[in-house]
Amino acid sequence: MSAAALQQLPTLPQGLTYDDVLLIPQRSPIRSRKSVSTKTQLTRRIQLHIPIVASNMDTVCEDKTAVAMAREGGIGILHRFCSVAEQCAMVQRVKRAQSFLIEQPRTIRATATKTEADEAFAWRGRKGGVQCLVVVDGERGRRVLGLVTPGDLTFAGDGDAIALHMTPLAQLAVSYDVDLSLAQARALMQERRAKHIPVLKRGTDELRYLITLSDIVKLTHNPAASLDAKKRLLVGAAIGVKADDFARARALVEAGADVLVVDIAHGHSDLCIDMVRRLKTDPATASVEVIAGNIATGEAAEDLIAAGADGLKVGVGPGSICITRLVAGAGVPQLSAVMDCARAAHRHGVPIIADGGVKTSGDISKAIAAGADTVMLGNMLAGTDEAPGRVLVKDGKKQKMVRGMAGYDANLSKAAREQRREEDVFAELVPEGVEGTVPCKGPLAPILRQLVGGLRSGISYCGAHNIAEMQARARFVRMSGAGLRESGSHDISKL
Ligand code: IMP
Repeated sequence: MSAAALQQLPTLPQGLTYDDVLLIPQRSPIRSRKSVSTKTQLTRRIQLHIPIVASNMDTVCEDKTAVAMAREGGIGILHRFCSVAEQCAMVQRVKRAQSFLIEQPRTIRATATKTEADEAFAWRGRKGGVQCLVVVDGERGRRVLGLVTPGDLTFAGDGDAIALHMTPLAQLAVSYDVDLSLAQARALMQERRAKHIPVLKRGTDELRYLITLSDIVKLTHNPAASLDAKKRLLVGAAIGVKADDFARARALVEAGADVLVVDIAHGHSDLCIDMVRRLKTDPATASVEVIAGNIATGEAAEDLIAAGADGLKVGVGPGSICITRLVAGAGVPQLSAVMDCARAAHRHGVPIIADGGVKTSGDISKAIAAGADTVMLGNMLAGTDEAPGRVLVKDGKKQKMVRGMAGYDANLSKAAREQRREEDVFAELVPEGVEGTVPCKGPLAPILRQLVGGLRSGISYCGAHNIAEMQARARFVRMSGAGLRESGSHDISKL
């Protein structure tokens, strides 16, 4: 045994994880779980209404998951197992999913035909893509002549000019106020029975923005949604630390990503520290929030924060599809890792994400009470309708695939995309991830609400009104194997 290891022997620290502990119930002033706040910080500057982040795995988070997460008040991180163009297109789809002032509404010339308009409505290749075209004068014109919707063209002939069927500008509700509030836009729509409001440059008929009823409805129904300054949904995107990842980062920032996640298996490495420093100092990326990981110690937190990280991702080995601890023998049980990293990060005002190993809403409560500001979920979201991937039928049940990003399956797909040989993957890769299936769970939103409901209960059991109070008050009790068995659901027939 090495001298260093021998010296450590008598004081070896013990690592604990979620199943080792419970939160001790405390006197609670909470009368209704609804009065509990789950607001939290994702990074120094980004606040969320619910502390849940969808993992940047290719079986968990593409644009559909990211849209659903942000609508519910969390956020999704788009995976990087695709080309830069594909990842940027996903960012743009999230950003276009809703907004208050649409900056570049789809336009059409007044002389275009119904057939051309039909193509423009179907622009995004799916129903509901564009429900209204702004009719303008000429090819690149910004002078608004009117609006046209699919309903206006129901009885039009294929060759009819749009001008014949549009609603002309004089009959439209318009605004010249670019600082229009949501309430004012809603009132104007109600008063004029309008579904769309063009916002024009003051004193002219030049187009600035378009406001749509469907966006207003979404903004009104989801007041907790995670939004940027333009009321578009927030979205994050993952990058690696290779030479070409900086170009990926620049493209993602340009496409509109609100936060970048520098995501590698061993985040406490010079490679990760250098990438964070570069992102935070290069003028092209310095303004975007940067999360770095994955780490498992306070020392790692200190080093990445010194490099400029605005958030940290904690978890080496707890993931459901992770075999790092078996392959490399390295890692820290997740509850201890969260506590150690939170202690260091919170001294600098930097939030942390507890990433991996969450199996129940109770685990979310424990992670947050231990100091995590948010939790990242992979497995628990992989079976939702929004998660990428096809539905398989296995043992007569509908399932979806979940796969570790450091496993054979994901790396074979990557090799195929990059036109590399499969043999090289088998020869070179030492996989630290595996693949499996999870039951289909239906839409994501109700699943999230259940998880958040469980967390609200957990906060209340700690006698707290919010996450900060929970973290200040929480007391854990360690439990034995018998305690853990007692905690599970009981089979009444055997009692
Ligand atoms: P889960 O919520 O327990 O499924 O854990 C999800 C987390 O596992 C992800 O957010 C990643 O941090 C981690 N992860 C994803 N793929 C791999 C892998 O191949 N090896 C190790 N960890 C992985």
